[in-house]
Amino acid sequence: MLRTVVLISGHGSNLRAFLGACADGTVPATVVAVGADSEAPGLEHARSAGIPVFVEPLERGVDRDAWGDRLADVVESCAPDLVILSGFMRVLPPTFVHRFAPMIINTHPSFLPEFPGAHAVRDASAAGVTETGASVIVVDDGVDTGPILAQRRVPVLDGDTETVLHDRIKIVERELLAEVVRDLAARGSAVLQEN
Ligand code: GRF
Repeated sequence: MLRTVVLISGHGSNLRAFLGACADGTVPATVVAVGADSEAPGLEHARSAGIPVFVEPLERGVDRDAWGDRLADVVESCAPDLVILSGFMRVLPPTFVHRFAPMIINTHPSFLPEFPGAHAVRDASAAGVTETGASVIVVDDGVDTGPILAQRRVPVLDGDTETVLHDRIKIVERELLAEVVRDLAARGSAVLQEN
């Protein structure tokens, strides 16, 4: 079982799905804590499952490296095998990434390297593409630039609102994340070095 810390920033629907997959045994992982950069609504999914939560706010004017160190200290205190960013909307400083690399992965709602960054679904909609995708990557020092562990295409349908499209993408994100974590549990970090 992979001891896992999940970091979120929003509603945590992907977190909720991941917790369900851990609970029903389809993913060999135990979420030992959930963290956020603010009092994110998604933390409720952890609380209701009896999982410890923590918040390390990144307030305006706060030194990002110092914030990253504080966040890393809390994450490290959970002794994770794996750190998952799932809807975590902050760029983590290299000092944080290097403390957990390569066992730090991120889900992203596009077929990277298409549409990196915080507005991937909006950007795909605006670009008028007929398909986009979902990706799971290893987090590196860049923004959505790390090695791709899994990705799959998702169709953009006529009349899609951003929310409808994002919900369709999230379903695939959740499937890809489960596949990647099963692979990591079975083959360890060798999986991450292959990419
Ligand atoms: C996900 O699509 C994630 O990839 C992106 O933000 C979304 C978070 O959704 N960074 P939720 O908070 O899990 O509902």
